Amino acid sequence: MNFRFRKARLLPVPFLISISIVLIYNIGYSQDIKIVLLHSNSGNGVLENCGCPEQPLGALEKRSALIKEIRESNEHVLLFDSGDLLSSVGNSIKDSLALASIILMDYDAITVGDQEFSSGVDFFQRVVNIGKIPFVSSNLTIEGKSPALPYRIFNIGGIHIAVIAVIDPSVFFLFPKDKKIGIEVTNPDDILPGLISEVERKSDMIVLLSHSGYDEDLMLAAKYPSIDIIVGGHSQTLLEEPTKVNETLVVQSGQSGFYLGELNLILESSGKILSYEWRLIPLTLELPDDPEILSLIEEYDQIVSSGRMKNAPVYLPLLESKFAVLASNDCKDCHISEYNAWKKDDHSVAFKTIVDERKTKDSECLSCHTSGFGRDDGYMSFSLTAHLVNVNCTECHHTSREHLENPSETPVEKIVEATCKRCHNTTNSPEFVYAKYFFKTNHTLKILYDGKNYHIVKSGESLSLIALIKWGEMSMWSDIYRLNRNEVNDPDVIYPGQRLIIPEIKK
Ligand code: HEC
Ligand code: HEC
Ligand code: HEC
Ligand code: HEC
Repeated sequence: MNFRFRKARLLPVPFLISISIVLIYNIGYSQDIKIVLLHSNSGNGVLENCGCPEQPLGALEKRSALIKEIRESNEHVLLFDSGDLLSSVGNSIKDSLALASIILMDYDAITVGDQEFSSGVDFFQRVVNIGKIPFVSSNLTIEGKSPALPYRIFNIGGIHIAVIAVIDPSVFFLFPKDKKIGIEVTNPDDILPGLISEVERKSDMIVLLSHSGYDEDLMLAAKYPSIDIIVGGHSQTLLEEPTKVNETLVVQSGQSGFYLGELNLILESSGKILSYEWRLIPLTLELPDDPEILSLIEEYDQIVSSGRMKNAPVYLPLLESKFAVLASNDCKDCHISEYNAWKKDDHSVAFKTIVDERKTKDSECLSCHTSGFGRDDGYMSFSLTAHLVNVNCTECHHTSREHLENPSETPVEKIVEATCKRCHNTTNSPEFVYAKYFFKTNHTLKILYDGKNYHIVKSGESLSLIALIKWGEMSMWSDIYRLNRNEVNDPDVIYPGQRLIIPEIKK
């Protein structure tokens, strides 16, 4: 494929002139860029070394230490995984630990494998909601909604690398029915042509994370020559060298985290691959450990064996189990104004207060200065549940998980004095007067809606564009959406001529 052509087509004339100057200036210097593309697949939720008699391999603490070392000695490193992070049997405690380790390794993009659903769709949705794993997927939806971005683009030393991802529908054929409720997988051939032409316009190079199996990957490579590299998975294939299909490189790294794949690329500034070297690095016992992950495992062992957190005394009435414990981040997309108001409120920094007091291991202080403490799905420890520090939205707005998917049919519980008194009791908040405290917290007072303010939709407008025009902030589309729920069913579908109520924001 011809990278130079693709890029040149996009360059405006003045740009071409400046490039020729740069080239003259740089005669004798190399413009080539070295990128290290690290890849893993089919981790299968395995935490420790396999202890295999011939060659003991694996362990997350070794993978993490190795990645850190490679990142320290190279300027441009990308880290990808093509799915099946979790065990096939659905061991949610162990899987949570594998996920916490993956989060610490700071991947750049990960695609969704079928085993991500072994503990059920809800478990996976909770993982997505934590918002710490950079999932990419273009052809899988849950209840009609994609859990991931369709692509990500990385600017590495001026080269734009697009990462797209697919999962093959066949990988779900043998999957237990009750664990795939609501999951739809579109045929990749229906998605890829459009997706590729979209990212081609924005990038110099395309990497496909494919959870499809090796044979399928070879077919994808033949069908879509614009893809430069396919990082495969699912079939757990251990390759000896990258398979080249025309100009496309197909790689995969076996199973259960025994190896880390390392593809060293030398690229021209146009994105063209000048040369590559590939190896699978065996994760042997001699490699160093990442102490952070080791201590995570120790902490988990303790919690599992002693039930420490579960048995700890709790100093506030537990939230009823029909209500969800969620991070404020989960509400942000749809309630950005309230989220911003909450960020300025003491509740969003309540954890810092007990950090300052050096009381982050004291269950008494954790009770009211974090969210959901004392429940299985609530705050446990900083390394495992960092998203639940502070007093998040659901501590005051008692809401079921369904609200996130179906807001209009799942009303949120009304706030009453008792809602606050769970924490604002006479010992910890002796000055508490409901009316006074309510007024201080009430973020709705900051938004005044003027129902007479209309906007007539013009062709080509979207809710985000209207929000951008009105307030210079795209994310406020959700305020318009909320006000127009009677008229707008799907926030992505508005039509020219439609009359929308526009909130007026007053300070
Ligand atoms: C039953 C719930 C509850 C427990 C248990 C609790 N707190 Fe608090 N804490 C609160 C509330 C509510 C406030 C706000 C009080 C107010 O301003 O009226 C608060 C305020 C504070 C403040 C003042 C914050 C500021 O900057 O204004 C500190 C410090 C504090 N807590 C520390 C602790 C420590 C340390 C523990 C553990 C020994 C603890 N809290 C246990 C509910 C609790
Ligand atoms: C400390 C308690 C508290 C926290 C935490 C909190 N809120 Fe509120 N919120 C309130 C109060 C009080 C009101 C006013 C409720 C009323 O008028 O009945 C309110 C109002 C709202 C409303 C408007 C409700 C209405 O009836 O119009 C929304 C939406 C909302 N909050 C969302 C959020 C979101 C999202 C978060 C987290 C980012 C959040 N809130 C965090 C206390 C809280
Ligand atoms: C997918 C978007 C979406 C998400 C995510 C979401 N909400 Fe909502 N929320 C809405 C919409 C839309 C409404 C208005 C529903 C209606 O009245 O039809 C609403 C209503 C509310 C209300 C009542 C406000 C009112 O006008 O009566 C509160 C409080 C609220 N949400 C809190 C939350 C909290 C807390 C979270 C996070 C745990 C959350 N929401 C997450 C979309 C969302
Ligand atoms: C899960 C526990 C919890 C709940 C529920 C809760 N709060 Fe708080 N609130 C706290 C804590 C903890 C602080 C202290 C934050 C800090 O560390 O500074 C606080 C602080 C405050 C403050 C700041 C006090 C000041 O002097 O500035 C106000 C106001 C307040 N809360 C109002 C409310 C209202 C109103 C409600 C009910 C709608 C409510 N809170 C519900 C835990 C809670």
